[in-house]
Amino acid sequence: MSIFKGKNILLGVTGSIAAYKACEIVRLLTKAGARVQVIMTHSGTKMVGPATFAALTGRDVLTELFPKEPKAGLEHIHLAETLDVIIVAPATANIIAKTAHGIADDLLSTTLLACDVPKLFAPAMNFRMWRNEATQSNLAIIRQRGATIVDPEHGQLASLAVGEGRMAEPKTIVNALRKLLGGEQDYEGQRVLITAGPTREPIDPVRFLSNRSSGKMGYALAAAALERGARVTLISGPTALEPPAGCDFIAVETAEEMEKQVRAKAPDQELIIMAAAVADFRIARPETRKIKRGGSTPVLKLEPNPDILKGLRPLTDAYLVGFALEVEKGRENALKKLREKQLDAIFLNYADRADSGFDKETNEGILFFKDSEEEVPFTLQSKKEIAHGILTAIREDLKRET
Ligand code: PMT
Repeated sequence: MSIFKGKNILLGVTGSIAAYKACEIVRLLTKAGARVQVIMTHSGTKMVGPATFAALTGRDVLTELFPKEPKAGLEHIHLAETLDVIIVAPATANIIAKTAHGIADDLLSTTLLACDVPKLFAPAMNFRMWRNEATQSNLAIIRQRGATIVDPEHGQLASLAVGEGRMAEPKTIVNALRKLLGGEQDYEGQRVLITAGPTREPIDPVRFLSNRSSGKMGYALAAAALERGARVTLISGPTALEPPAGCDFIAVETAEEMEKQVRAKAPDQELIIMAAAVADFRIARPETRKIKRGGSTPVLKLEPNPDILKGLRPLTDAYLVGFALEVEKGRENALKKLREKQLDAIFLNYADRADSGFDKETNEGILFFKDSEEEVPFTLQSKKEIAHGILTAIREDLKRET
């Protein structure tokens, strides 16, 4: 389950050109199951219309401290009681200054003062304003009071000047928020590559060979790694799933495409987990036109696909984890794959057990390591729990190594 699921998040949007990026933040959070309420300052509404945020959140956007048609009780007081966190993105020098000095002269600044919940600010401003001593000391004040600041990036600003002040990317902000809401950050900053889902091998332009992988196991691993602070790249074959908010997502179709992407990313990674069900064979010569009925029945000739995982060891120092999907002689086959593919660990799971393996919400299995007799059994549990368990066991194995 996503850490954002069921969370009440208030997003404050202030008057910076980066306000358009806040739309993507809303999209990522609502897709992940959060309830997002937007408050805009008057200058924020000059950048992006409230109707956009209303459509994205399915809720009225609040802009007025004293609305024309007041409701019983002040809205910000109600908000204060239900919120889990407040993000201000983009946060101008003005809202940062007001927050630092307890000024409450509009709905957003009043809500920030009234709500005792974790707060995250993603500043966006001209580079001179950012560097200004007043802004830096205001930031120091709110940081010291516990606020999280997602520093702006260096780059071209709205004024076309180049400097620091451009709001961080929505993905970076969502990941900082995940960290704020989440638990232990034992993978903080680590580069983790995960593959998921099936591959599709074309027969002709409308048909393909594939398998029953839903991607659930790989996506659960990506979500768990993100929750623990990792920088996650998820390379996935076609699935019906929404990629976890905050990962770098690369969609592929065939094993060949997956291999190309994995090999390009592998050298930079610290951990690679191949949970994808890569098709072992492809059609030797896919037809360029749809095969029609009527003639002779076609015979499909197969050829082997590359073994992506087996080719990775010379390319990377990353800790390499494979998945072995087995029917019989599971332990023997998994250990053989561990050796032959030069892996650090392999997770054995089963293709013939109820409620585990392909397309199920739950899974079970055993994690084996290269240099340790120790093996970690996993009883039937959700794929997310399995994912967290695998990440914890990898951590333990790395501690044994050092
Ligand atoms: O996606 P779900 O519906 O949630 O199902 C999850 C899963 C059952 C697909 C997953 O848990 C799993 O077991 N994935 C690996 C399936 C598989 O291809 O196993 P294998 O024993 O054939 O391959 C061993 C390892 O080599 C795997 O890490 C695989 O990604 C990799 N491989 C395999 C073939 C190939 N040509 N290249 C590879 O890199």
